[in-house]
Amino acid sequence: MSESDEPVHAVLAELSQLPSDGTLVDLGCGTGPTLAATSRRHPRARLVGLDRSAAALSTARTQLTGHGGGLQLVQADLRRPLPLADACVDAVVSYNVLECLGDPAALVREAIRLLKPEGTLVLAHVDFDSIMVSGPPADLDRRVCHAFTDDRQPWMDHANGRIGRTLPGLIAGAGLTLHRTETLTAASTVLTGHAERRVADMRRALLSSAARGTTTVTAIEVTDWHAAVQAAARDRRFFFSETVVIAVGRRT
Ligand SMILES: C[S@@+](CC[C@H](N)C(=O)[O-])C[C@H]1O[C@@H](n2cnc3c(N)ncnc32)[C@H](O)[C@@H]1O
Repeated sequence: MSESDEPVHAVLAELSQLPSDGTLVDLGCGTGPTLAATSRRHPRARLVGLDRSAAALSTARTQLTGHGGGLQLVQADLRRPLPLADACVDAVVSYNVLECLGDPAALVREAIRLLKPEGTLVLAHVDFDSIMVSGPPADLDRRVCHAFTDDRQPWMDHANGRIGRTLPGLIAGAGLTLHRTETLTAASTVLTGHAERRVADMRRALLSSAARGTTTVTAIEVTDWHAAVQAAARDRRFFFSETVVIAVGRRT
């Protein structure tokens, strides 16, 4: 089982407060990094991952080979009623998924339906307006970072890049007890690992949106921004950070 270099997954596994033989559902599990972190912490837990991407689920299955408890990876559209019974799980987690949904409160209601009494809901999302990168001039940097926050890629039904800050309100508004609110900031002074992947994602996403005419920045601006970030990395002026908001609710 390979380990993600993003510490957030281990934090989510911890905050889920899963009993060692309990059941956890990951809504929008993707390739399974949160399930893998949960498996390391609770090797006998029953893990359920829902996602609509068959390719991501297939990678998750490979990543979780060797998990000692039960494993169910199910292709499902999170905009529809979830294919699980009422009050059947101890914990529900979801990381970096809600921004894609036009009605995130509907998924939160479904997540609560799945929880046993005293069950835990952990919602976590990068708030993309928190991204800081050194190198590019301020005006260009603001334009590019804000365009990325608002960017909607073709695989997304919706885009709300500022959803991180709304998570505590979503939990409280759904009637759960808001148990904890945390932030986790990833920071790096070198353009490697997560920072490198995020900067590359920003460049790739905005160049494709510029080509489709669906963003507010031009391909030239994106290319200039990226060159300035790379120059900062070469000259040891590089800094990158982004913040994840984590909200934990408890069903009474
Ligand atoms: C940014 S990825 C995050 C994946 C995973 N939680 C992680 O931490 O790596 C967003 C995931 O949400 C899934 N997704 C987006 N909209 C969905 C929907 N309507 N139904 C099911 N899955 C969806 C995508 O397929 C993708 O795997």
